[in-house]
Amino acid sequence: MNGKFHLKRLMFSMASLVDLGQEATSSKELAEKLKSSLYVVTGMFSVPTAALFVYRPQQKLLDLLAVKGHKESVRTETKLSLAAGHIHSFRPNDPHPLREMSEGPFYERNKAAFLKLQTTIFIPLFAKDEFVGAIALGKKLGGAPFRQGEKDILRVIAHQMAITLYNAALFSELTKKAAENKRLYESMRRIYHDTIQAFSAAIDAKDGYTKDHSYRVACYAVAIARELGWKKKDVEGIYVAGLLHDIGKIIIDTKVIKKGKELTSLEISEIQKHPQISYDILSKIKFPWKNIEQFVLHHHERLDGKGYPDSLVATELSDGVKILVLVDAFDAMTTDRPYRDKLGLDEAFREVIKCGGTQFDEKITRTFFALLQRELNGEVKDPQILPHLQNLNLDVSRFKALESAQSM
Ligand SMILES: [Fe+2]
Repeated sequence: MNGKFHLKRLMFSMASLVDLGQEATSSKELAEKLKSSLYVVTGMFSVPTAALFVYRPQQKLLDLLAVKGHKESVRTETKLSLAAGHIHSFRPNDPHPLREMSEGPFYERNKAAFLKLQTTIFIPLFAKDEFVGAIALGKKLGGAPFRQGEKDILRVIAHQMAITLYNAALFSELTKKAAENKRLYESMRRIYHDTIQAFSAAIDAKDGYTKDHSYRVACYAVAIARELGWKKKDVEGIYVAGLLHDIGKIIIDTKVIKKGKELTSLEISEIQKHPQISYDILSKIKFPWKNIEQFVLHHHERLDGKGYPDSLVATELSDGVKILVLVDAFDAMTTDRPYRDKLGLDEAFREVIKCGGTQFDEKITRTFFALLQRELNGEVKDPQILPHLQNLNLDVSRFKALESAQSM
């Protein structure tokens, strides 16, 4: 071969390698990307037929991924099968002339497929010491053998294609794992929520009068937190805190809880232990949400420091606590208790307004009323307050009057 032709050939090879590099790093689908790479190889070496296989380790098969110059039937029917020892006999990314392999068991096992593919060179593809696939090249046009320089270039190309296959397998594995983790997380989350709901029902069942109290507290708290623009995860947290805020009552004597009125001072102090017990129970659980145990510990605090258990004042109470303080008391006012009948809604509103600044935070109260107003106007898609107040014969006009009185 003269020097000028050799130089031209070399430049063509270089240009093809650049093309191949671009193919390997492009964002095309894997099969398309590797098919383009295979076409670059066949063009570069004037080989009319070629096939690219991907290794399926579980089936111990080389599966056809892309072909050049073969009929469609070849694509669907041809697979190469491997035994455990075959891979060890391959030289990574090195072109193996088929006549060298013809004595070996791998060739014997796949003789028919190799004949069908008119293979003359078999290149096992390895990346990071892992067998990932193979290339089978047919005869060159004119039938000349592959020269050493061409085999060197083939080795480089094979390595590049191996890395593409390896990365694609890794990516698909990661995507599969991520999807599986997401599924697992979702099912754990469901179990978590169901367990919390069951606990909440058990708390409310202890005191017949407060049936569904925890659930309503949770719904009201969610509505206010959303209105205040809390993040989704924090909204979920206050929902759980609402459901579990009275969990400490489970330990307190049912007779004391149901008695309601004429409690002795001993019984009062017994009942007032429940936020601390709730805290002690919940602080042992590693929740995926922040501050649950603090919210429940302080749901009987007041802005003026006259609450329990820690007599905190306004500046020491978080918005989450202030929300629970309001909605817990509001639900107590609007449901029957052993010691009194439920208040009418306007009475409850007057009470909330009256206690603004001493028991309840006014920003939270305003938010609650404004939201209820929007629910009444039908402006809220998924109302969380109104559906629980239907049995109170809500008089919209009276509520409006109260609201304007509050803003004065
Ligand atoms: Fe409570």
